[in-house]
Amino acid sequence: MTQFDMPDMAGATAVVTGASDGIGLEIAQALAGSGAAVILPVRNREKGQRAVARIRESVPDARLALRDLDLARLDTVAALVQALRDESARIDHLVLNAGVILLGDRERHVTEDGFELHFQTNFLGHYALTLGLLPLLRTSRGRVVVQTSLATRFGRVAWDDLQLQHRYSAFRAYASSKAALGLFATEFARRSDDEAWGVTLGISHPGVAPDTSIAGPLRAKRTGSGSHKVSARLGHSPAEAALPALMAMMSTPRPGEMCVPRYEISGQPKRRRIYRRISDPAAAARIWDVGDRLLVERPAE
Ligand SMILES: NC(=O)c1ccc[n+]([C@@H]2O[C@H](COP(=O)([O-])OP(=O)(O)OC[C@H]3O[C@@H](n4cnc5c(N)ncnc54)[C@H](OP(=O)(O)O)[C@@H]3O)[C@@H](O)[C@H]2O)c1
Repeated sequence: MTQFDMPDMAGATAVVTGASDGIGLEIAQALAGSGAAVILPVRNREKGQRAVARIRESVPDARLALRDLDLARLDTVAALVQALRDESARIDHLVLNAGVILLGDRERHVTEDGFELHFQTNFLGHYALTLGLLPLLRTSRGRVVVQTSLATRFGRVAWDDLQLQHRYSAFRAYASSKAALGLFATEFARRSDDEAWGVTLGISHPGVAPDTSIAGPLRAKRTGSGSHKVSARLGHSPAEAALPALMAMMSTPRPGEMCVPRYEISGQPKRRRIYRRISDPAAAARIWDVGDRLLVERPAE
């Protein structure tokens, strides 16, 4: 299934991170096909242009704008925020979809800003982007959609070692960063409610899309036995994996719920209770404070 009952979105503007590839590209395509103007902040312009060309194959009159954003460089986050604020851009939807997982790479990578790469790309960069765009989101009474992962069901924030300086593994770093992002979503929803920001919040996870580049290294690891070959193919297409995020964008948000594939790794989108790991209010408040502090201080390496 690749269709979703999308409403007419003419007049709306969406910002989708990670729209140069995979699931984000499918989200951007679905939005453009429904008439929304889509801003695609990308770290690689050439790839971004290929994504734009692909969307235009099926939506020739798509209203698309490429912007520069490397979540692993906070100066680019600040520059994008400033540019959109200077333009008083309308933002009806902000989809925090970009993500990285360096499976198969045992080396721990640190960004120029001094943060562990998964932590900054998946969580902190998105945190800074969202808070920077908050005034525009408030003006538009917009919606933020946070793309988490099945990993947030089991993973937890490595509170005592946020930068994974000690027991590093790429999967641990990924799971911790996605849990941090999910907790940020929970706290964002609470604050928006308490402080009447007028910005709604949706949480999704795509299930498993084995044909995106993020899933490539995982697939490469599973080439041995027959059962591994089968499990490496489990999941659904990037277009299908885009549906939970689209559902989280389009449907009336229900507090305490998130949108996921019916069978968790694949299937039609459905609502379910937010995973316990990302709905704890104390942990959610704590991650917000961590984000606030780290954007001012640099981590001690
Ligand atoms: N595929 C799955 O099975 C799966 C499962 C669970 C969760 N997810 C989540 O779904 C989301 C989309 O993943 P995907 O499967 O579509 O992966 P993908 O095909 O690798 O796409 C990831 C996107 O994120 C962008 N990105 C990565 N690092 C970035 C950075 N530093 N700054 C800006 N953009 C950056 C990539 O840009 P480039 O094109 O420049 O690389 C790409 O557009 C991620 O958040 C991922 O964690 C995926």
